[in-house]
Amino acid sequence: MDITYRPQVSASAPGKVIIFGEHFVVYNSEAIIAAINRRCFGRAEFTGNLGVWIASDVEMKSNPYTIEHAAVRGEPSNKKLLEPLSTFCRHIIREYALDVGLKIYIKSELPIGVGLGSSAASCVMLSGILRSIIRLNHGEEISSTDRKWIYENALYGEQMIHNKSSGVDCYVSTYGGLVHFVGFTETTSIKSQPLPFFLINTRRSHETSELVSHVRRFSRNSSKRFEELTSDATAICSNGVKEMANGSLEEIGRLMTENHKLLREIGVSTKEIEKIIGICSRCGSLGAKITGAGGGGSVLVLARPETISAINGALKGLDLCLEAIKIEDRGLTLD
Ligand code: PMV
Repeated sequence: MDITYRPQVSASAPGKVIIFGEHFVVYNSEAIIAAINRRCFGRAEFTGNLGVWIASDVEMKSNPYTIEHAAVRGEPSNKKLLEPLSTFCRHIIREYALDVGLKIYIKSELPIGVGLGSSAASCVMLSGILRSIIRLNHGEEISSTDRKWIYENALYGEQMIHNKSSGVDCYVSTYGGLVHFVGFTETTSIKSQPLPFFLINTRRSHETSELVSHVRRFSRNSSKRFEELTSDATAICSNGVKEMANGSLEEIGRLMTENHKLLREIGVSTKEIEKIIGICSRCGSLGAKITGAGGGGSVLVLARPETISAINGALKGLDLCLEAIKIEDRGLTLD
């Protein structure tokens, strides 16, 4: 295939939080998700040799805990993420018969395995770089056809890492903003009042695929109850959309806590997460829940400014703290 060689191609894509509906969205329920102001950056250089070589600071800088986690499994620290990413790039290069070799450098503000969509953001960023190499001239706008291609191919890449994936992470990382996800075609963006969100990183990384399999077993063993919980999760999403537009922060917080109860029942919470959520609630947060797959990862908290120091004070005993995040309008960007 004919391509225009440029010295290098760069892209970046945001991570995400799931505000309502994780896990249930894998079973075609809805979800409300937001891109956040933490990104994964990538720069690709063309090389004389065919093949793909990826280097990353992902674990080293952002998440020392993943090194520990990987070491326990006897694997080099970032092999688990980087191997599927280069397999994904090689696949696209083969499919489009690109006559290129690539050296790709990844820098990320997203710790791995803590529910912030680091693998999806990496796949979206790489998919953006590959689309740019295949089709775009430097500085050219990303059309809606390009963005759809980037989303679909990133999702294919993400499924190499997590097996079954609902697509929410890749969607919001590609398109940005705050969205009500009801499958690719019916997803709409939400106009919201400002939402004072905070994250607590438990520093226990999780394996999304293991937690998704755990929930699959729950859905098979307790199918009737799972149906009820899924319909509760859908109702929470519908109410969440209304409340975000013009309702009260109290109500949004209450819905978050209700959503967390469903996640606890399907078995993706931990003792530590329950302790953290208890602390937040006693110190006056409006709501708190797991965000992402659970089993560790991050807790998403909605809290008014006047309660922050009390929450942080109480979290000190666990050596944890709140980190403010903002919803990010920009999805994938090519630089
Ligand atoms: O923890 P994360 O960032 O991998 O998010 C997983 C979200 C799930 O709903 C549990 C799975 C999915 O594919 O939507």
